[in-house]
Amino acid sequence: GAPLRVDISKLEPGQQMTVEWQGQPVWVVRRSAQSVSELSDLTSYLVDPFSQQAQQPSYAQNLYRSLKPEISVLVGVCTHLGCSPIYHPEHSAQDLDGGWRGGFICPCHGSKFDLAGRAYKHFPAQSNLVVPPYYYKSETLLEIG
Ligand code: FES
Repeated sequence: GAPLRVDISKLEPGQQMTVEWQGQPVWVVRRSAQSVSELSDLTSYLVDPFSQQAQQPSYAQNLYRSLKPEISVLVGVCTHLGCSPIYHPEHSAQDLDGGWRGGFICPCHGSKFDLAGRAYKHFPAQSNLVVPPYYYKSETLLEIG
């Protein structure tokens, strides 16, 4: 199908937007500078912290799993049985002990993913969320597909 253009000029730090691409939800999240810097703290809590087994384009094979560190683009479909996880950026002081800095939680069986879509250990989903193919047509215009 034709690529999908997404204007991200209004997306504020911490905000998520959902678009539909090839019949699936795709999320675009503008991560805060703090969230970006925390991604490297989480590795011991994650199934595949460096996304070696994950489905993603080669240009997203990095710590952020994205072209620009602050903008996350993910297929919003749980890698367990295909429910759509819910954006859950909030986290409390206690959550920090368990390595939770906000992310996505699946309503079906509780799998958790961080803000780069990386699966947490000890939950049913055993692989990271998929990163779709995309590129930037301009500073604020994404093209997915
Ligand atoms: Fe998401 Fe089962 S479908 S945890």
